[in-house]
Amino acid sequence: MNPCIFVTGGAGFIGSNFILNWLSTSSEKVLNFDLLTYAGNAQNLVSLEGDDRYTLVRGDLCDGDLLRELLQTHRPRAILHFAAESHVDRSITGPSAFIRTNIEGTFQLLEQARAYWDGLNAEDKQQFRFLHVSTDEVYGSLGPDDPAFSEETPYAPNSPYAASKAGSDHLARAWFHTYGMPVLTTNCSNNYGPYQFPEKLIPLMILNALEGKPLPVYGDGQNVRDWLYVTDHCDAIRVVLERGKLGETYNVGGNSERKNLDIVHQICDLLDELRPAATSRRELIRYVTDRPGHDRRYAINASKLRRELGWSPTIQVEQGLRRTVEWYLAHMDWVESVRTGSYREWIEQNYGNRSIG
Ligand code: NAD
Ligand code: DAU
Repeated sequence: MNPCIFVTGGAGFIGSNFILNWLSTSSEKVLNFDLLTYAGNAQNLVSLEGDDRYTLVRGDLCDGDLLRELLQTHRPRAILHFAAESHVDRSITGPSAFIRTNIEGTFQLLEQARAYWDGLNAEDKQQFRFLHVSTDEVYGSLGPDDPAFSEETPYAPNSPYAASKAGSDHLARAWFHTYGMPVLTTNCSNNYGPYQFPEKLIPLMILNALEGKPLPVYGDGQNVRDWLYVTDHCDAIRVVLERGKLGETYNVGGNSERKNLDIVHQICDLLDELRPAATSRRELIRYVTDRPGHDRRYAINASKLRRELGWSPTIQVEQGLRRTVEWYLAHMDWVESVRTGSYREWIEQNYGNRSIG
C-alpha cells in the first residue's frame, strides 16, 4: 500500500473541507474520486492545483472497472466514502439518482474495495480501512421528549434520501460481518460551514436574505436539527479513521439542537449587523408548504465517540453561524459562480472527462 487515502465525493461540501483540512496537516497523498455532479465543485480545491499530494479523477461510483483500476494503481491505505446524493428535497422529487448513487454506487465501491483488500499482504490487510460517511437521518424522527439517537437506535428512515443512506449503511455493515472487511461507519447530524451548496437551509437563507429574496420556512419552522460545524465533523472522521474499532458505528453530533426558525432568525440578525439594510431581514420570512414526510426532530447522542475516542465538538452553533455568514460574505465570487452556474462551465473546461493530477 502507499501513503495515500482514496476519498470519494471530495468535491462536495464536506469532502472538500475534509481534503483541505487533511492536506493542511498531512503529507499523505489524496486521490479525490468525484463525478462532479451539480453538487461537486472542483473550484473548492483550486488552491491544491499543482500540489503533487492531490489528484482529482472524475468518475462515477457505479463504474466498477474504473474503481478497480484506480485502486490497483494508487494502492491507498484507506477509502473514505463521502460521495452521495445528499439533498432530501431532491430525493422527494427524483429518488432514482439516490438509489443509484447511494445504494448501487456504495455496493460497487465496497465490491472493488473488497477485491483490492483481498489481494493485500497480511500486514497491509490489517492496516487498511474503509470509512463509510453517513447520516443521523437513518434513525427517523424524534418527538420532543425522546432521548437522542444512539448507535443502538433502530433504523427508521423516512425520506428516499434517508432510506438510500440506510441501505448503504447496511451494505457497509454486511461487508464487515460477511467478508471481514475493515469497515467503520459514522452517522452525523446537520453540517454547516464554508462551501455548502445553497440548496441547504443555512446557505440558502444567507444568500436569499442578502439579495432581499423571500426566506422559505417549511411548515411551522419548529422542526429541530442538531448543527455541527463542518471542520468538527472532519476531525471526528479523522479520529474514527485512526482509532475507531472495526465494524463499529459512531454517532457524530454538535450537541446543538435548534429550531429552524431560530437558525433563520440568527442568520437575519447577523446579516443586519454585518450588512445593515433599511428593514430587518426577518421581514423576508415566509411560511411555505411543509416538506412531505418532514422529520420533526433530530438529536444525536455522541457520547460513544467522546468516551472511546476522545472527540467532542469545539465550535458552538452561534460562533459557527457567525463564521459561516462571514465566509459567504467574503467569498461572493464563489457564491456568484454557484448562483450563475458558471462553475459548471469551468469544470467542463478544466476537467471534462480527464483526470487531473
Ligand atoms: P454534497 O452533495 O455536497 O457532495 C456530494 C459529492 O458526491 C459531490 O461532490 C458529488 O459530485 C459527488 N457524487 C455524487 N454522485 C456521485 C457518483 N455517482 N459518483 C461519484 N461522486 C458522486 O454532500 P455533502 O453534504 O458533502 O455530504 C457528504 C456525505 O456526508 C454524504 O454521504 C452525506 O450523506 C453525508 N452527510 C452529510 C451531512 C450534511 O449535513 N451535509 C450530514 C451527515 C452526513
Ligand atoms: O441530518 C443530516 C442531514 O442534514 C444530511 O444527511 C443531509 O445530507 C443534509 O442535507 C441535511 O438534511 P436536512 O433535510 O436536515 O437539511 P436541509 O438543509 O435541507 O434542511 C434543514 C431543515 O430546514 C429541515 O428541517 C428543512 C428545513 N428547510 C430547508 C430548506 C432548504 C426549510 O425550512 N426551508 C428550506 O428552504
